[in-house]
Amino acid sequence: MTAPRPPDRTREGPAALPDPFPRRGAELFAEDVPVRDLAAQFGTPLYIYSRTALRARYRALAAAFAPLDPVIFYAVKANTCAAVIATLAGEGAGADVVSGGELARARRAGVPAGRIAFAGVGKTADEIDAAIAEDILYFTVESEPELERIAERAAAAGRAARVALRVNPDVDPKTHRYTSTGKAENKFGVDLERAERALARAAELPGLEIAGLHMHIGSPVMQIEPYLEAIDRVAPLCRRMRERHPTFRHLDIGGGFGIPYRPDEAPFDLAGLAREAIPRLKALELTVGLEPGRFIAGEAGILVARVQYVKDGPGKRFIIADAAMNDLIRPALYEAWHEVRAVGATEGRVTGDLVGPVCESGDFLAFERDLPDLAPGDLLAVMNAGAYGFVMASNYNSRPRPAEVMVEGGRAHLVRARETLDDLTRGETLPDWSA
Ligand SMILES: Cc1ncc(COP(=O)(O)O)c(C=O)c1O
Repeated sequence: MTAPRPPDRTREGPAALPDPFPRRGAELFAEDVPVRDLAAQFGTPLYIYSRTALRARYRALAAAFAPLDPVIFYAVKANTCAAVIATLAGEGAGADVVSGGELARARRAGVPAGRIAFAGVGKTADEIDAAIAEDILYFTVESEPELERIAERAAAAGRAARVALRVNPDVDPKTHRYTSTGKAENKFGVDLERAERALARAAELPGLEIAGLHMHIGSPVMQIEPYLEAIDRVAPLCRRMRERHPTFRHLDIGGGFGIPYRPDEAPFDLAGLAREAIPRLKALELTVGLEPGRFIAGEAGILVARVQYVKDGPGKRFIIADAAMNDLIRPALYEAWHEVRAVGATEGRVTGDLVGPVCESGDFLAFERDLPDLAPGDLLAVMNAGAYGFVMASNYNSRPRPAEVMVEGGRAHLVRARETLDDLTRGETLPDWSA
């Protein structure tokens, strides 16, 4: 099966990428809406997404790789908000999913099953059954036992399941060790030597159709060389497999394309990757898959918070906001660096930590940083929070998760309501023997 054609919007050429969160006068805007107004209407902490930016990022990627006519599977794990997925589905995006939950979300948001790839090292039988029932484009298979399980479930359903074997090309993506996925020591995929045997086994199994190969080396990756190295490593295997297995048609090179989190960081060289990778990939005569998440959603979102207190410790200032590690865990988890901007006018800068109310010393959004000199009541924006932001939020310390708003031009829509105290205890019961 080949993926159905999306609307061809790439002919519009690479979209200009205007700043979705510009400053006009003293005020920060989300497209044409003052962030201050959104905070007043929807409260804080608040995630704000720019629909225009999501589309522009998608179009830039589609245009860069247009000569390959790739399938772009938006990695929904980056931001599963229905309005975000639906926006991208409207552009023709498919979806890379890693759970039955993500599969359901992608389908509900309008992604055709024939443009869905299902990755992940631990797919359960129920998740596999759901994906087979939906007739997704392919499973990205991470191990030999998973091949056997998918074959069993496909046979039980009387259907064929398409499988793309995830190979681990053993290249260093030069990113945080928690987010490197294509080195030999990582749990993902099978090594190149074993891949050939695994595909031979797949060919023997009834119920499986060999769709191709998949890899994803890590995230965020800021250099293009690891991708080129990975493509060069899998190319000989692709050629052999294409000759051996007539249904072998796909090479999915994954996602991970980085974004500049720091103002002085160079953006990911998308044009350079396209220039170098396209001839290599074209020569393979396969349908190419891309799985970007952060590249599309990261810069399209911010987290807005209000300062509650300012406290001067010995040698350090703490700006204490109403957003915390439970709302945006990247700084605590990966020591990730997010730019912090004042929403309104501020005078001067201070050195200190931007922290939340959670009872952990790791609860910071910015650590030992040069920050705007914010006062209690001031609003601030944590930039580049559109990917791996809300999706990783939790209710730790019994904090309801934030609201999410999408803007487009001068319009704003609440795309997910703030959680309530009832949401916090939904589904909980006391044992009937505890009275
Ligand atoms: C298999 C796979 N594809 C794509 C992605 C998306 O990565 P990114 O959001 O950095 O593009 C991930 C992220 O973990 C992944 O595991």
